Amino acid sequence: MASQNFKQVSLIEHPVISKDLTILRDASSDTAQFRAALKRIAIILAYHALKELPLRTFEIETPIQKTTGYDIDQDVMVVPILRAGLGLSDALLQFIPDAKVGHLGMERNETTHEPEDYYSNIPKGVEDAMVLVVDPMLATGGSANDALSFLKKQGAQHLRFVSLVCAPEGLKKMEQEHPDVHIITAAIDEKLNDDAFIVPGLGDAGDRYFGTV
Ligand code: PRP
Repeated sequence: MASQNFKQVSLIEHPVISKDLTILRDASSDTAQFRAALKRIAIILAYHALKELPLRTFEIETPIQKTTGYDIDQDVMVVPILRAGLGLSDALLQFIPDAKVGHLGMERNETTHEPEDYYSNIPKGVEDAMVLVVDPMLATGGSANDALSFLKKQGAQHLRFVSLVCAPEGLKKMEQEHPDVHIITAAIDEKLNDDAFIVPGLGDAGDRYFGTV
């Protein structure tokens, strides 16, 4: 499905993403292969997710002469949705080493498919920061919806959602509930199945990343 159907979505296309998504989708990939492929895609997504950061200018001196220097002019906060979101966090922290990290623990109930919160720890400064919520899977959109609503209640105003694979059902929920949140993703898949798993998807990203399959 093309991202132009979802105005708030940037679908990032890149040969490395296509190759590594294949490794992630392949049920025969082992934990080491899965982790390495996810981390490589995360770097490309992080690069795109940080594109809109504002800059401030200042004067520096090269060994030759004065020139204009640049620094990022907004605090960045990375908020992984536990557990699977942890796999995407490091790539963002490589680019922004002083970013604060908040954690939201959510587990989808396998019967109701509704997210259940079990932990939250959000650093101070969420109001002014660019807050990057990260979770590889957007299926029904329930977890992302709750995470974004929670962060808005804490005062967050500048939110992005970084994901690997999204289902159209989850993106429609985002369109209804959080149309202001820019979504950066590597794939928009066909649909959800009866168990609310993304089709074709890649299975349970958290279980495959942490080896709890
Ligand atoms: C998965 C995934 C998302 C959520 C997506 O997490 O990482 O957080 O489900 O589903 P939704 O859009 O329908 O809410 P899971 O509950 O399996 O927890 P885990 O990260 O600990 O594996």
